[in-house]
Amino acid sequence: MDADLVIVGAGLFGLTIAQQAVEHTGAKVEIIDVRQHIGGNAYSYVDEETGAEIHQYGAHLFHTSNRRVWDYVNRFTEFTDYVHRVYATHDGEVYPLPINLGTINQFFHAHYTPAEAAKLIAEQAGELAGTDPANLNDKGISLIGRPLYEAFIKNYTAKQWQTDPAELPAGIINRLPVRLNYDNRYFKDTWEGLPKDGYTTWMERMIDDPRIHVTLGVDFFDESQPLNKKALVGKVPVVYTGPVDRYFDYELGDLKWRTVDFKEVRYDEGDHFGCPVMNFSDSDVPYTRAIEFKNFNPERRDRQNPDRTVVWEEYSRFAQRGDEPYYPVNTAEDKALYAKYEEKAAAEPKVVFGGRLGTYKYYDMHNVIDTALTAYEEQVAPLLAR
Ligand code: FDA
Repeated sequence: MDADLVIVGAGLFGLTIAQQAVEHTGAKVEIIDVRQHIGGNAYSYVDEETGAEIHQYGAHLFHTSNRRVWDYVNRFTEFTDYVHRVYATHDGEVYPLPINLGTINQFFHAHYTPAEAAKLIAEQAGELAGTDPANLNDKGISLIGRPLYEAFIKNYTAKQWQTDPAELPAGIINRLPVRLNYDNRYFKDTWEGLPKDGYTTWMERMIDDPRIHVTLGVDFFDESQPLNKKALVGKVPVVYTGPVDRYFDYELGDLKWRTVDFKEVRYDEGDHFGCPVMNFSDSDVPYTRAIEFKNFNPERRDRQNPDRTVVWEEYSRFAQRGDEPYYPVNTAEDKALYAKYEEKAAAEPKVVFGGRLGTYKYYDMHNVIDTALTAYEEQVAPLLAR
């Protein structure tokens, strides 16, 4: 092994570091990943039967207002003009989300003006005025009033957390956005879209350089293979993007995560929902939302099967060791535990911890690319210069 830099994890954090290292120093980079593909959680593949691009680890929509990140990603892919919009089924009707004037007027069978809707919500939210919300239920009611909270938030949140919101801490939500106009564009960022040739092609282009070598199906903690922690740490700069508690063999305890199970359903029709994401706000549907991947790429209709479609239903639950860790639970206890791991990580010789697993943070793709560009400049480049 004659690499100048070893990267554990071929997700967007690791790939950005690899690309930057080669571009700026000509370093030889070895990337390993325990999975059989690059791309980490942003990986996708084309489903043969329907032509849908399936995001294997959950729906991924690219959006950013960060000029540095937008310029960077455009070096490797063009983006479609996809604009993300979400709908919710509640009590036999379909509503637009996030809650906006369209949702409110449909729900109350009304034609409120923005000012009238604001007044109504303030009145309904006043139900618990003067009290400190004791739990997520009370917090939700105090933010948007009981009717809208119970219709669109309560049961969805219960399914996400597998816990009654009356038992969840109020601090899980700070605000529930309500738009007093008919804008149901989901993201507010300057730029959004989906990679024209798919996520995996985008990420393959980032590391298309003979100085970058990728080994798949290799676990950094497996000492029977050469690219392992014991053999490498302290000897060569390492960027580690796996779970930080796993790196230290969970010696201080496990950081808690939520995960999502996906159930695939295929339909004998070209389009089942008429949109890419349908939330289910009621408790009688056991999943939180369903993703119809074909509808992320309407510009590919000529390459999609007009008679069949594929949908993934999402079931949320707490993760156990061995599950895919998706969303950090992030209780005060978890934060305190992570702070201890972070201290140990800082003391590791020539190892840079990064990405969502290495720093126990939920990052959108644009955040992870931004932090990787900064980590390259501030932490990795100095190690390569030695
Ligand atoms: P990532 O998890 O992608 O990569 C880490 C890699 O390390 C993995 O490939 C893993 O196999 C590897 N690894 C771990 N341990 C290892 C070991 N011991 N040995 C070798 N390899 C190891 N963002 C966004 O902008 N828009 C969106 O719509 C979404 N949607 C979304 C849905 C869901 C369900 C999730 C969970 C996340 C999103 N995201 C998102 C966030 C997005 O997935 C995230 O920003 C990036 O994938 C993070 O990239 P990383 O490189 O940090 O981690």
